[in-house]
Amino acid sequence: DIRPIILCGGTGSRLWPMSRTKSPKQFQTVAGPGSLTFFQATVQRHRTKGFGKPVVVTALQHVRTVQQQLTELQCDATIICEPMARNTGPAVLAAARVLAKEDPKSLMLILPADHIISGNLNTPILAMRQAASDGRIVTFGITPTYPETGYGYITDGGKFTNYNGLHNVAEFVEKPPLSRATSLVATGMAYWASGISLYSAQTIMDEFARLDTVSSEAVAQAVDQGEWADNCLTLHPDSFRKSTNEPTERIIFERAKSVALAPLDVEWSDVGCWTSMQAIGTADDNGNVLTGDVISVDTRNTLVRGDKRLVAVVGVSDVIVVDTPDAVLVTARGKCQDVKKVVETLKGES
Ligand code: GDD
Ligand code: MG
Repeated sequence: DIRPIILCGGTGSRLWPMSRTKSPKQFQTVAGPGSLTFFQATVQRHRTKGFGKPVVVTALQHVRTVQQQLTELQCDATIICEPMARNTGPAVLAAARVLAKEDPKSLMLILPADHIISGNLNTPILAMRQAASDGRIVTFGITPTYPETGYGYITDGGKFTNYNGLHNVAEFVEKPPLSRATSLVATGMAYWASGISLYSAQTIMDEFARLDTVSSEAVAQAVDQGEWADNCLTLHPDSFRKSTNEPTERIIFERAKSVALAPLDVEWSDVGCWTSMQAIGTADDNGNVLTGDVISVDTRNTLVRGDKRLVAVVGVSDVIVVDTPDAVLVTARGKCQDVKKVVETLKGES
């Protein structure tokens, strides 16, 4: 069985002020009160034939939320708790180390916990089992619709003859600048990296040992010296701190030869920043996505979210305005990746 590895330790800082340090996007509901959270929806999507017990990798401050949201689903999972954030590379490697203790051949399905997905995701994933068992790092790609700078890009290097639906990767480019993203999309050969990938624990441990020896050893120690309480492993802080603070895409995917591409035909949205939030919203005739009590006059291509108050926008285009009871965001559409700098300035106060 494939083990779902759910990464949910991020801060969702580009969606400030909706997403807050203490309550990041992945633990909020997708469709309002009563519906599943992004995290819960991710867990549920793979509670089906072919998939085993999930492993949830998260930050110390979210462990209780994770446990509570799993209990609501009556779902048994292994939890790995990071004493400090080290991005997704070390998170994935910690999960690999834990699984390898049972079986190094375990297949890991890496799942970001902050996506909206509809359509059949599991069939194309299950079809890649053999390739992953054979040592491939299968990254799942989505046909791009615009040059998003917040995503990774996978360029198609031609089909494999021995695996149905699997392609070579000419290049993996994590979060390129706009000019590069634009030219990548224009080639028609590039896919967005969905953030979902499939490989064996052994494969990723080997690649880490080769490409980042320091982190490889730091994470191995953090797991071995970590403390188990019931089903939750807290990684050893002094060891884990020594690992790099980089995503898997930069440490491994941009550099490893074993990376392969499997295109996915599903409706997918990362909703990681306000521009992608606008992209999934319903726009009026002028391209404005307006929610809440909003009046717009002579505006184009905006996202405006009112909350408790009336919000009015006049004579502007390509702006994003988000009102909440204690904070207001106004940003140019093209700058929405920089919203995380606000959160960095607030240093945890958000
Ligand atoms: N456990 C843990 N620890 N999880 C983390 C950490 C961490 O330090 N940092 C981030 N995560 C979780 C987030 O909560 C999210 O569910 C997932 O890992 C991805 O992190 P993001 O911060 O949302 O990544 P991204 O959106 O900027 O980029 C990734 O996803 C894109 C598509 O959504 C990359 O995989 C890109 O290549 C990809 O295009
Ligand atoms: Mg994301």
